[in-house]
Amino acid sequence: MERVLITGALGQLGHEFIKFFIKKNIYVLASDIRRPEEKLNCDFEIIDAMDNKRLNVVVKKYNINTIYHLVAVLSATGEKNPFKSWKVNMESFQNIIEVSIENKIKKIFWPSSIAVFGTKSNLENVSQDPILNPNTIYGISKLAGEKLISYYNKKYDLDIRSLRYPGIISFESKPGGGTTDYVMEMIESLKKGEDYICFLEKDTRLPMLYIEDAILGTIKFMSSKKKNLNVKESYNITGFSITPEELELKLKENGCIGNVIYRPDYRNEIAKTWPKNINDKISKEDWNWKANFGLNSTLEEAFK
Ligand code: SER
Repeated sequence: MERVLITGALGQLGHEFIKFFIKKNIYVLASDIRRPEEKLNCDFEIIDAMDNKRLNVVVKKYNINTIYHLVAVLSATGEKNPFKSWKVNMESFQNIIEVSIENKIKKIFWPSSIAVFGTKSNLENVSQDPILNPNTIYGISKLAGEKLISYYNKKYDLDIRSLRYPGIISFESKPGGGTTDYVMEMIESLKKGEDYICFLEKDTRLPMLYIEDAILGTIKFMSSKKKNLNVKESYNITGFSITPEELELKLKENGCIGNVIYRPDYRNEIAKTWPKNINDKISKEDWNWKANFGLNSTLEEAFK
């Protein structure tokens, strides 16, 4: 029986993974550095993933055998404090590895990101294995993590798995500190009839994935037979790619009346080093990945 610990469980992805595990009657222990504002319907522990000892105690206490390590300082916040970002992203990752070795954790999920690529890869239709030269501290930490995954899996016979998430679009749980967050901010403002000041240029194209595809895809990936997984670091996955202007037009087609004012800031510089489109062919071949949501079906969810 799986007994799952989620770190950083109160973030955008954590909330949705919690709901999924509860629905499937899989034991889940949520953890974060702050208490939840609403009732979670699962066990909860305060854990700072930088605190190795505390992690170890909790993993033992609850007989955890699977970890979803979702703690991360994302791209935009990371640029404001790169030292802290590196420390949080890497130290917590190292702690998870050490605790996993000691407690013989069966499977670990750790998200990577489109931030790993950088401008030396052709930003159109980015393949699984291009030259990687990330420009943000977030991307650098994700790339380091990818390399450590294949190293530790081999050296300690662990099963750490990873997907390179594009921007995740969700309407119930909120993102925080990312470059792709504009999508949810724009939808929320325009739905209310308010204007939105967009921090990206109108034609900055980025790959996105609707939350349901992200959760179900990740679960499918984590349940796949290890022998089918040929990529030893992190797999590309994507849903669809959009620009802010395309989103604005779609929202207006849906009856929204607020306007978008384009005032690009440092986050547009980050986005310009990220892929416009991702090629996820290898995920499709190796573990049968398929996204079900495009822009239209994602927006249908926003207007439900
Ligand atoms: N959504 C993330 C960010 O914008 C990308 O992994 O930072």
